[in-house]
Amino acid sequence: MGVVIAGTGKALPELKIENEYLSRLVDTDSQWIIDRTGIETRHIATNETALDLAVKAAQEAMGGMDKDSIELVLVATVSPDMLVPSMGALVKRTLGLKNAIAYDINAACSGFIYGIWNAEALMKIHGIKRALVIGVERLSRITNWEDRGTCILFGDGAGCAVLELSDSKTGIISSFVKNYDDVTDCLIVDIQYPKTPFSDDGPKDPYINMNGSQVFRFAVGAIGEAMDSVLQKAGIKADDVQYYVPHQANMRIIQSAAQRMKQPVDKFQVNIKTTGNVSAASIPMALSDLMKSGKVHSGDKIMLVGFGGGLSAGAILFEAL
Ligand SMILES: CC(C)(COP(=O)(O)OP(=O)(O)OC[C@H]1O[C@@H](n2cnc3c(N)ncnc32)[C@H](O)[C@@H]1OP(=O)(O)O)[C@@H](O)C(=O)NCCC(=O)NCCS
Repeated sequence: MGVVIAGTGKALPELKIENEYLSRLVDTDSQWIIDRTGIETRHIATNETALDLAVKAAQEAMGGMDKDSIELVLVATVSPDMLVPSMGALVKRTLGLKNAIAYDINAACSGFIYGIWNAEALMKIHGIKRALVIGVERLSRITNWEDRGTCILFGDGAGCAVLELSDSKTGIISSFVKNYDDVTDCLIVDIQYPKTPFSDDGPKDPYINMNGSQVFRFAVGAIGEAMDSVLQKAGIKADDVQYYVPHQANMRIIQSAAQRMKQPVDKFQVNIKTTGNVSAASIPMALSDLMKSGKVHSGDKIMLVGFGGGLSAGAILFEAL
């Protein structure tokens, strides 16, 4: 029995913000951002909620599928509209997915990989025939727009994959997830809870706080370990993979992954130039672009690979339908 990726979709907010605009907010310049990250523009939500984006991506991924056939909704996010109900529960309610179990996963930028890893296992154990795995972020609301080390990197958006249980197709070949303790708090987002009669946590910084060069070094190592691991489990070589869909955090991280695997960088799906880093939504948005590009043939092997806060990393190797 296999779990196949049967549909993909994505959604972006309307507003596009160029690097040039950011150089009016902080001491930076567009060429520095392009050279150090590969990012030129990003989409920023104004009126769109995370739910709007998640629902739009899910609708595109589902196409004409019967809503009643969706039995599981997993939403990976670090910037939900609210804590309760979960984004999963909100998507279920909004789309009228009456037969779905729905909840959220927080594995930061690795969230979509963790979501697929969870969904595959649950589908096989419980005989769940069809699931949605969504990555959605409105990172702009937890971005410190006065910090030039982070505000140049992030954007908003959503991506979705429909997973199906199959008797005859291979689908997911191998998977890998791993946590590494963030002992120095190199990537954190704190929570500002209100004061109560019983506790007062004091002021907290609710923005993304990151030591960029430390995260960069972690990413290069972790992405390599994840890629090696899924190849080894599958008993295949990097050359046997037709397309790689990496987390879109920095073009230099993507290039270093390509170098490490001795693969041409054009086998890597890249959309960071126009989206920036959209955390859990980065991989499913790039996957949707790849699947709709017309380049992918049935049986092609595709690798999803990501890393993020936690610290966390993972990869999924699958065969295209
Ligand atoms: C953030 C990042 C782009 C910074 O690039 P970098 O080459 O590592 O740059 P450094 O942090 O070493 O800083 C180098 C210099 O550039 C400066 N700098 C930082 N941001 C800048 C900006 N937006 N514009 C201009 N200069 C900037 C720094 O202040 C530093 O100056 P100094 O040498 O005078 O102190 C890079 O570290 C990165 O992408 N890290 C990974 C982040 C990531 O993936 N996060 C998400 C994980 S899922």
